[in-house]
Amino acid sequence: MLASYTDTAGRPLLCPSLLSCDFARIAEEIDRVKNEIDILHCDIMDGHFVPNLTFGPPVVASIRQATDLPLDVHLMVTRPEDWVDPFAKAGADTLVFQIESTVHSQRLATRIKELGCTAGVSLNPATPLQTLEELLPFVDMVLVMTVNPGFGGQTFIPEMIDKVKRLRQISKERNLPIHIQVDGGIDEETAPLMIQAGANMLVAGSAIFGTDDPAAAARKISLAANTAYLETFEAV
Ligand code: DX5
Ligand code: ZN
Repeated sequence: MLASYTDTAGRPLLCPSLLSCDFARIAEEIDRVKNEIDILHCDIMDGHFVPNLTFGPPVVASIRQATDLPLDVHLMVTRPEDWVDPFAKAGADTLVFQIESTVHSQRLATRIKELGCTAGVSLNPATPLQTLEELLPFVDMVLVMTVNPGFGGQTFIPEMIDKVKRLRQISKERNLPIHIQVDGGIDEETAPLMIQAGANMLVAGSAIFGTDDPAAAARKISLAANTAYLETFEAV
């Protein structure tokens, strides 16, 4: 499980999304970036919740065999209740479901923790933070989608900066040390904005695996994020 996050003891974590990697060479792609990153983000799409299809538990189990890095599994599926057990068994460390996909979110978050995983909940760009009011004490992480889920390579929605700021403020006021992850259009330019706003986990797909040198791209994003973190939270 991810260690609990506090504002002063959490350097930014970089979580490359495998969505933009070469699926025929996943292990090699992971090897290229493994020394520059913290967590691997696996995008699970079912063709119903989002208009795209990716992969399921057998592929996550194979990725688990290929790396010791933590696996962050982002469920963009209808009926996430059906999928948390199989993905936990496949080796997921973090399971993130979309709040729009279930009416039993507290039960689902509790089940994810029972499975020994970090519990995360994700919000589409138009889903208000208020939907989380009663759920926040039961989750370890909130993923603020900075694009509409379904595809890599989309344009970052700048209005999400304020959403992250408001969420970090709520977490402080309520003394809930949640991780805030952002996903969609994150690159060297947008990563610092999200860190300044209060996010601490950055998902980036095309900005890493869409380049000729994914390790160098990951290093640049990390440097930009860490610089913003030090300037914002550790300046004297
Ligand atoms: C979007 C996925 C993202 C996606 C990000 O539906 O949840 O994880 O891979 O891709 P980029 O970084 O290219 O926007
Ligand atoms: Zn994702």
